[in-house]
Amino acid sequence: MTDPTPVIRVKDIAYVQFVAPDLEVMESFLLDFGLVRHERSENVLSMRGLDRSGPAHITRLGETACFDRVGFCADSKADLDALSATEDFADVRPIEGSSGGYVVSGRDPNGFAIDVIAERKPLAEIGELARPAPVSNSVEGRRRRGEPIRLVPSPSQVFRIGHCVLNVADFARSERWYKHHLGLVTSDQIDLAPNTPVGAFLRCDRGAEFVDHHTVFLLQGEEPGFNHAAFEVVNFDDLMSGHTHLQKAGHRHQWGIGRHILGSQIYDYWRDPYGNVLEHWTDGDLFNNETPPASVGLAELIGSQWGPTSGGPA
Ligand SMILES: [Fe+2]
Repeated sequence: MTDPTPVIRVKDIAYVQFVAPDLEVMESFLLDFGLVRHERSENVLSMRGLDRSGPAHITRLGETACFDRVGFCADSKADLDALSATEDFADVRPIEGSSGGYVVSGRDPNGFAIDVIAERKPLAEIGELARPAPVSNSVEGRRRRGEPIRLVPSPSQVFRIGHCVLNVADFARSERWYKHHLGLVTSDQIDLAPNTPVGAFLRCDRGAEFVDHHTVFLLQGEEPGFNHAAFEVVNFDDLMSGHTHLQKAGHRHQWGIGRHILGSQIYDYWRDPYGNVLEHWTDGDLFNNETPPASVGLAELIGSQWGPTSGGPA
């Protein structure tokens, strides 16, 4: 059920943050994954996509590798003040590093650290896409004439972060928390039986504006844990080229390539050197406030429209 009076309505996911014992090892994987270095100090590695919104993947140096937190974007510092006034969030403070802006940090009912940021400076343009989408020929239209496709072997070009999936200890309580504090709304609820929810794909509520099918997916698990984070790449060719690059570089493949049922994305899942699962995706659904929530079963969650039918996270 939608919370009619949420504290704020976030506008997107901002970043995922991890702890790792070797930033060099992490950066080497992330470059192969298709992210670009934003900043690196002795203790922090910040990576970005092609879009200008800011660092999308952050790693702090630490002895034990783990998932650290997820960050969301709010409209204004006033939103951060509103969260700070609730008992689950601390004081608003300036963001460390060169990106400017403010952050408020809190904890969800599972103990996950949650950042909400605002007024971060837009990053400089990286430049034109190195691999613009070639015009496609199909039986519906033979538009590419006299021009062969010649893709340059390279990593995917990650554009932006799109969602984070969390395994939670108490789905109903967790869902209430995210809807109340961040204003998320349901796209698809996973029901084991009628009115027996075990998970939900939640999107940002931006009214009539179309947004990703999900920004957060909460899934009932035996214990809380990071499931995966997903990054949008330029197009299908870009996803496939990135797959070949990661494979040649010897990285660990997790699941794919296929097309999800819920959200419709073409997906490809990989593990970083510390076992965290990161997804490439392209061609996902966009919903707005005209799209009613749906109730679906487990088969739709784990199934694919094409590609493998099982083997990885949702
Ligand atoms: Fe995903």
